[in-house]
Amino acid sequence: MPSTVTVGGFYGDEGKGKIVSYLAMKDNPSIAVRGGVGPNAGHTIEHNNKKYKVRMLPSAFLNPNTRLLIGPGVVVSTDVLLKEIEEFGVKDRSFVDYQCGIIEESHKKIDSEGRLKESIGSTGTGTGPANADRAMRTLRLAKDVESLALYLDDIPNAISFALERKEKVLVEGTQGTFLSLWHGTYPYVTSKDVTASGICADVGIGPKNVDDVVIVFKSFVTRVGGGPLKNEISPEQAIIKGWQEIGTVTGRQRRAADFDFDLAKRAIMLNSATQIALTKLDVVFPECAHMQSFSDLSSPAKYFIKTIEDQLKVPVTLIGTGPDVNDIVDRREQ
Ligand code: GTP
Ligand code: IMP
Ligand code: MG
Repeated sequence: MPSTVTVGGFYGDEGKGKIVSYLAMKDNPSIAVRGGVGPNAGHTIEHNNKKYKVRMLPSAFLNPNTRLLIGPGVVVSTDVLLKEIEEFGVKDRSFVDYQCGIIEESHKKIDSEGRLKESIGSTGTGTGPANADRAMRTLRLAKDVESLALYLDDIPNAISFALERKEKVLVEGTQGTFLSLWHGTYPYVTSKDVTASGICADVGIGPKNVDDVVIVFKSFVTRVGGGPLKNEISPEQAIIKGWQEIGTVTGRQRRAADFDFDLAKRAIMLNSATQIALTKLDVVFPECAHMQSFSDLSSPAKYFIKTIEDQLKVPVTLIGTGPDVNDIVDRREQ
């Protein structure tokens, strides 16, 4: 902080939602703003035995002081957004940029069949076809949708105003570096760039106004949908290791592999990451479950973290030790 961008370091689902929720509660930003593609993202957040699933709003919604913004580069599913605003009771602090693109039923239909569905394994949420129409300059924008009128704002201006007043701003990326349309495993990628630079462009924050880039890595790699995954293990092996995961948006089983240092190095380079958040340490080292202090972690877990820092040359500042927002070791203060 004051301005922090969070991004996914692998193929999405690294646990960004939980990290962002923690940062929102701990650092109390006045603004959390979502960049990234749109409702193809799905974050699961657990707090005080409650589970929240969020696809459109920023994951920072648990902090009642934080305004929840969606940047102009994000495509919006009006029904998903309005449902989340209602469900989380955040009507008076949710704002959508005038220029957000709108996903129509026709986009979802195209996304749910044929090559996009069968070969790429798209989420079927209409984001790719909507971005194609945006490139063709035929996509409808939020400013033309009556049901969004209450929520419209100039998001880049709101961010700039907050930064001028020295308030904290949390910029939330979605998906992961290797799903980027430019830098990922094309064609098995999403429909936008989702590295830190792309996320900043989505919300309208210039490169010189970013203080920290927190890259989120899971302690192993998962991927949902088609495309290469180095050292992929079988679903049976994933169950034995306790690495099996089910996708938040599609309910599909996520494919799994060991932590990939080469991929992680490239992700650090592409995102100019200044800090690493490492999630699911407890899944690889169950003896570390729910710990909040680095000194309490087991020796093998500490060794894993040291190896990551030695190889990637970036400090691991946040460590996830369980699904709850507070299952975390925060080394920024230790
Ligand atoms: P996308 O934006 O779709 O890429 O998602 P995401 O990065 O927010 O991750 P998602 O919520 O889809 O998946 C992460 C899962 O891991 C969720 O079910 C979280 O509750 C869970 N989780 C996050 N951090 C930890 C952790 O440190 N330990 C454990 N056990 N679970 C975690
Ligand atoms: P699309 O973004 O729905 O077009 O899907 C393209 C590819 O990106 C597919 O392999 C999806 O599974 C993957 N994908 C898109 N969004 C996410 C996400 O938030 N987490 C994980 N995978 C995603
Ligand atoms: Mg997800």
